[in-house]
Amino acid sequence: MAEFDLTIRGGTVATAGDVARCDVGIRDGRIVALAAELPAGTRDVDATGRLVLPGGVDGHCHMDQPGGDGSRMADDFLTATRSAVFGGNTTVIPFAAQAQGQSLRDAVAAYHASADGKAFVDYAFHLIVADPTPAVLGQELPALVEKGYTSLKIYMTYEGMKLDDRQILDVFEAARATGAMVMVHAENSDCIAWLTERLEREGKTAPAFHGTSRPQVVEREATHRAIALSELSDLPILIVHVSGAEAAEQIRWAQGRGLRIYAETCPQYLFLDANDLAAPGFEGAKCICSPPPRDKANKERIWEALTNGVFQVFSSDHAPYRYDDAEGKKLKGEAASFRYVPNGVPGIETRLPLLFSGGVRTGRMSLSRFVEVTSTNPAKMYGLYPRKGTIAVGSDADLVIWDADREVTITNSILHHDVDYTPYEGQVVTGWPVTVISRGEVVVDDGALHAEAGRGRFLPCDRPNPARPKGTRAPLGPSGTFRAELA
Ligand code: URP
Ligand code: ZN
Ligand code: ZN
Repeated sequence: MAEFDLTIRGGTVATAGDVARCDVGIRDGRIVALAAELPAGTRDVDATGRLVLPGGVDGHCHMDQPGGDGSRMADDFLTATRSAVFGGNTTVIPFAAQAQGQSLRDAVAAYHASADGKAFVDYAFHLIVADPTPAVLGQELPALVEKGYTSLKIYMTYEGMKLDDRQILDVFEAARATGAMVMVHAENSDCIAWLTERLEREGKTAPAFHGTSRPQVVEREATHRAIALSELSDLPILIVHVSGAEAAEQIRWAQGRGLRIYAETCPQYLFLDANDLAAPGFEGAKCICSPPPRDKANKERIWEALTNGVFQVFSSDHAPYRYDDAEGKKLKGEAASFRYVPNGVPGIETRLPLLFSGGVRTGRMSLSRFVEVTSTNPAKMYGLYPRKGTIAVGSDADLVIWDADREVTITNSILHHDVDYTPYEGQVVTGWPVTVISRGEVVVDDGALHAEAGRGRFLPCDRPNPARPKGTRAPLGPSGTFRAELA
């Protein structure tokens, strides 16, 4: 009997730390050997001339999340995870969102029911806390953290979701006591409402005005406030989907003071801009997301923040709404104000190719940095490392074999989500995932799916932030500290 179930031979293995020519031996779904040359397995995959990377960990994506306004996401757990795996991802972390008045436990049970029997890859859940009652924070949250739901998102905007500063402090205190990671959507809600009403009075309701209603200062102010509340609570936080250079500046300032502020950006802030929102007619609605894509010059600042370490995580924020659909972008018709257009863009399948092409191929970022922000850091940040996010003996055999030279024109027809458009239509990328392996099984090979829906398993997560007794402060340190702490 062969020593390995699967041997990946002849490839160049890249992790967040190293790049080396190396074979990978896999047994029982785990990596059991790494060496210059390994014996044949029961099955061999030839990776000669290709890169072998840890499977992508998409730490921010939405699936089957109901909207309170009658909108409906195009992707359920089947189509979203199918799209994810074709894009080189082997782990996804979508959200279990609490509705007003709902128990957090019930929200989690409902999302498990949505995911059951459908996922192609492994998944964990972030919680969304929209109604932080004493029972939710005092009883439900600690019990859920104990069971492996160790991260949660809060919103500073959106009716029905947003928390005021006092509520945020309550959530931060509860998170600190349990060791959970808090993700923050940082935009000032009152400023957006005020600007939106003014624009509507002036008849400025086309999709492009979505950007005007959420200028950089709105994100910058909320980012600064979230940082202040984090400092007050002595709780590390992660600011999600940072779009503006001004918000990034606040994050860098906080990190320079030794505060543990982490941050994420997304493809829409590197590969889309305000011109896409201003496309003719209603087309700009395809790119409506919050915060919005900004001007071309801003894109360069976001690239800098991703490559120089201000941002630690690069996620898709896949929020799939169909364009030509009365439950999607056209919820209230094409003549309706931008405020009624469901927020979000699809991107779970294009995240890795876009960043590889725009980052690694252009020399903007090293291959190891690419692996770090797309796989290793999200796994560390959310308590899944080293099971996920690396290529090491003992880790799950979640791997993507990457053709660094394959040129692909992105069109919606080649993607595997259930959305009727991609905002990246026509963009040409170099570098594409050709074979995807999840827990030692070849699940995608050269454009074909070889997996059953439902093979993906739920992943309980470790606590990212060790709980500290009340009254003890975290040691202050430089912005890189999290790496040492979470390793
Ligand atoms: O516009 C966005 N980003 N929609 C998805 C929900 C969120 O706030 O992440
Ligand atoms: Zn958000
Ligand atoms: Zn999101």
